[in-house]
Amino acid sequence: MARILAVGIATLDIINSVTAYPAEDDEVRAVSQRLCRGGNATNSLTVLSQLGHQCHWAGVLADEPDARHIEADLQRHRINTAAVLRLKQGKVPTSYITHNLGNGSRTIVHHRGLPEYPFSQFQQIDLSQFDWLHFEGRNVAATRQMLAWAKQQAPDLPRSVEIEKQRDHIDTLFELADVLLFSRAFAQSQGHVDALSFLNTLQPQCGSTQLICAWGESGAWALNGQQALHSPAFPPPQLIDTLGAGDTFNAGIIDALIRGRGLGTALQSACRLAGQKCGYQGLEFLSLEKN
Ligand code: FRU
Repeated sequence: MARILAVGIATLDIINSVTAYPAEDDEVRAVSQRLCRGGNATNSLTVLSQLGHQCHWAGVLADEPDARHIEADLQRHRINTAAVLRLKQGKVPTSYITHNLGNGSRTIVHHRGLPEYPFSQFQQIDLSQFDWLHFEGRNVAATRQMLAWAKQQAPDLPRSVEIEKQRDHIDTLFELADVLLFSRAFAQSQGHVDALSFLNTLQPQCGSTQLICAWGESGAWALNGQQALHSPAFPPPQLIDTLGAGDTFNAGIIDALIRGRGLGTALQSACRLAGQKCGYQGLEFLSLEKN
């Protein structure tokens, strides 16, 4: 299987499940609470590891109790942390998540008390040990440096970038990626109401980059040069939990492309995987699916 390095965050997720989403200034009781490790890059790695890949994470951790919880979870999923920057001070990013049991939605309030992963740390990684590089589109200036460095040092190593949120100058990352994974929220933030019109506006500037945009219950679209591709969503019999569905989708795309599948097939298998995930709580759904 492939050796994959993902650069991004690991978080502590504090998830309160409620029967219905509360109104502002309401006081409601959670039906249950769970604490788990989250963060887009490490969520995607968790799924990729279950798919049999050798996964490595590059991110930042602080020396504090919540970081130990995160490390234990990464270890449990056999995610290598050799590239992690460990700081004496700080607090790991924490997400306070309201999970609506009625429809599986997740509402996230996120707090960070750590610096982002620096370019100088990335430069120390031996890129020749990997088959695929994946980046969260955050911390734009440093991420651009990392992408440019990777392109220069290891031109044949594929680079995927997740573009989830609008951030200043995020479009400067586009030309350095082989695969761009956009969220619906990002397309909407650019004034688009559908994935294809959004991807079409990018096509002239992105040339041969594979452009992908997931659109929840409508499935996902991709542009391969001029060719438009679509996959429907594969919703589970019951929508249980959508937290990490986008990260699972990204893992599905990376897995399929690594296996040499075409973009249309990759789109279908990523939608299928994300749909499966929504039928279970958490990201350890693959072994459950097999039962
Ligand atoms: C889900 C997630 C959570 C995390 C938040 C960070 O996609 O990665 O696990 O708390 O998003 O933005």
